[in-house]
Amino acid sequence: ARIPVIAIDGPTASGKGTIAMRVAQALGWSVLDSGALYRLTALAVLEQGVDPADESAVAEVAGRLDVSFHNGDVFLRGRDVTQAIREERVGNLASRIAAYGAVREALLGRQRAFRVAPGLVADGRDMGTVVFPDAPLKIFLVADVEARAKRRCKQLKEKGFSANLSGLLEDMRLRDERDRSRANAPLVAAPDAKIVDSSNLSIDETVAVVLGHWSSLV
Ligand code: C5P
Repeated sequence: ARIPVIAIDGPTASGKGTIAMRVAQALGWSVLDSGALYRLTALAVLEQGVDPADESAVAEVAGRLDVSFHNGDVFLRGRDVTQAIREERVGNLASRIAAYGAVREALLGRQRAFRVAPGLVADGRDMGTVVFPDAPLKIFLVADVEARAKRRCKQLKEKGFSANLSGLLEDMRLRDERDRSRANAPLVAAPDAKIVDSSNLSIDETVAVVLGHWSSLV
């Protein structure tokens, strides 16, 4: 049998990253934060002065990306960019360049390389639909936009960034809309995904729901 994957997809700030990490810890599996690859590409585009409107130039940056991951920290050419890729300007550019088919194509192999034994928990927008369509468990994690904006606001403030709730809300709606309406790998639940609404669930409760789905499969 192939190495199992739990795919966790959903809109911005639905808690996918935290949930994926916790589920991976519980199972002793590896974890893929696919959004980080789009953010890293965006950061590299900004730093190299590449024109974000030039799809093939951006795809080239994505293909050449020199990245590594160590215990949740992210490195670009050996430099720690864990904080830098979380900035809103980077997230916004990531969401724009993620609409390019050539960029998605350039990042595909890199994402699939994370599938190593004993298993992988992968979070993003298209884990269950495009990158790991054969994943035995697909979760589509949703939460209402206000709940997500509040969480993101808190998260940013904890990391020492300034944050404004109504601005975040607006940004989040825009980004969701862009992710849902794009032609390439739009944000959509796979037909066989379990929809989990975390609006009124704690992190622990959400992790328990995901692990419950997994143990009912094995
Ligand atoms: O999940 P995160 O917010 O870090 O992702 C940054 C951006 O990358 C998202 O707004 C989305 O447009 C894009 N993305 C994507 N496909 C993925 C993961 C992220 O298009 N699998």
